[in-house]
Amino acid sequence: MNLFDVKGKTVLITGASRGIGKTLALGFRDAGAIVYGAGSRPESVEWMAKEGINGVVIDVRSEKDAYNEIGKIREKHGKLNCLINNAGIATNTPASGFKEDELQNIIQTNYAGVFRNCQAYYKHHKKDGGNIINVASVLGIVGSKLASVYSGTKGAVITLSKALAIEWCNSGYRVNVICPGLIDTDMTEMIKSKDYILSQVVSAIPMGRLGKPEEILGAAIYLASDASSYVTGQEIIVDGGMIAQ
Ligand SMILES: NC(=O)c1ccc[n+]([C@@H]2O[C@H](COP(=O)([O-])OP(=O)(O)OC[C@H]3O[C@@H](n4cnc5c(N)ncnc54)[C@H](OP(=O)(O)O)[C@@H]3O)[C@@H](O)[C@H]2O)c1
Repeated sequence: MNLFDVKGKTVLITGASRGIGKTLALGFRDAGAIVYGAGSRPESVEWMAKEGINGVVIDVRSEKDAYNEIGKIREKHGKLNCLINNAGIATNTPASGFKEDELQNIIQTNYAGVFRNCQAYYKHHKKDGGNIINVASVLGIVGSKLASVYSGTKGAVITLSKALAIEWCNSGYRVNVICPGLIDTDMTEMIKSKDYILSQVVSAIPMGRLGKPEEILGAAIYLASDASSYVTGQEIIVDGGMIAQ
């Protein structure tokens, strides 16, 4: 028996067009799951069909996209086994410079979008239970310069997940969080583009390097599988030791 088996499970991953979400989509596919990968736009998901991934468009700021897509998955497969809320955006705007539209956009994407997707999943499956993995960040646990609103949204995702884990436990839901440290994706382009910033950042990571998107996959497979059947309301930190110091 393989405790970490996700074969045949239906998994929906938001923000799967690139970065961590893309790696998760390919990894779950390789592990035999039926993968639905979401991007915010049709162009983002065009590559998926030829990779054996079902591409769907979910702009997490929309009230209906996730609700409609989860309904279709349920109709086709009977159940969505696992929802991975991974879509997210970051900015490096100083707190004093935030404009209202930028503030609303990041809150809608990183926090309200996660809540809405969880709610949509629950509405469709409240009689069957489910498994939710929310991707937050170590910056939801510790503070950092130029990350005020981002950190706030990720901290909110962590406590939202704990609250839902408790509220929906008796409906058969598990809700857990993965907190990546700094991972080599488009999101960290602003760090990688300047050597002096990169070396400063890397020197603060005990493992001395950025993480690779593949290094998030193990935690996701663990949380999506029966290996974690008694785990809910928890976060797994995958950060090369960054916040252990
Ligand atoms: N990279 C890191 O160092 C790091 C560290 C900690 C936490 N995280 C978290 O990990 C998650 C993935 O990050 P990443 O580094 O892989 O980011 P990324 O490479 O920038 O990719 C972001 C993903 O989010 C999607 N997205 C953005 N806005 C969206 C919206 N309104 N609706 C739906 N999808 C949207 C994008 O889809 P489109 O391509 O269609 O726009 C893309 O697939 C994020 O939640 C991020 O906060 C990342």
